[in-house]
Amino acid sequence: MKKHYKIVKFVVCSALTGLLLAGFSSCGKRDANSPGVEFMPDMYRSPSLEYYQIHTVDGDTVYNAMKPVKGTVARGYMPYAYANTTEGYEAAGLNLKNPLTAKSREEYEKEGEVLYGKFCVHCHGEAGMGDGKVGGKLPGPPPAYSGTLKNLPEGKMFHTLTYGKGTMGSHASQLTQEERWKLVYFVQKLQGPKVVVSDSAKVEVAKPKIK
Ligand code: HEC
Repeated sequence: MKKHYKIVKFVVCSALTGLLLAGFSSCGKRDANSPGVEFMPDMYRSPSLEYYQIHTVDGDTVYNAMKPVKGTVARGYMPYAYANTTEGYEAAGLNLKNPLTAKSREEYEKEGEVLYGKFCVHCHGEAGMGDGKVGGKLPGPPPAYSGTLKNLPEGKMFHTLTYGKGTMGSHASQLTQEERWKLVYFVQKLQGPKVVVSDSAKVEVAKPKIK
């Protein structure tokens, strides 16, 4: 009698385990994105168009991850006219001037200092001596603004901030053009008064056209 009971217990247990396993494995097998059993389908399947997907709207296939139309410029974005080349760098040094004049220089310097504390100080150091916590460890540490870079023109600074130079990366994606120009004011404060007006090579470079 006892033996009989044991067999029944074994059969029932195996059947339950089998059912349980089948239940688990039946979820989301056919479609990896399927939520499985849906209690309220509308809450899982949004009727809105999802981004970066291809959709069919009124019979038209619509790709909603598209490149901007050629020749158009995003609102609020100013194209940068100088190429990422040595010539572009020299030309920027000669021709590019800080366009921020609405507020006083001191105000821009203060705003630049805040940005400098977030984006630059770890490499360039608080006084711009190139002795920041990270900068000092670079194979070629940043030169001091008031030393080698004392006569660096603002156009070159902006160019370097836009494209990067040596181990300094581009900051164009982190900082707007306006923010980069505010930083130029602050770097100039750290440079101290210039000895010569510009160190840009006095070569004739055609003024670049905005494409
Ligand atoms: C990863 C470290 C690093 C960070 C972050 C960094 N720099 Fe630099 N920076 C350098 C190095 C290294 C150089 C020297 C590049 C060279 O001449 O090869 C340099 C050069 C410069 C120069 C001189 C450019 C020239 O044309 O010679 C300026 C100006 C400058 N940095 C400003 C900034 C400002 C402003 C920031 C913050 C937005 C910043 N840097 C962030 C490492 C850094």
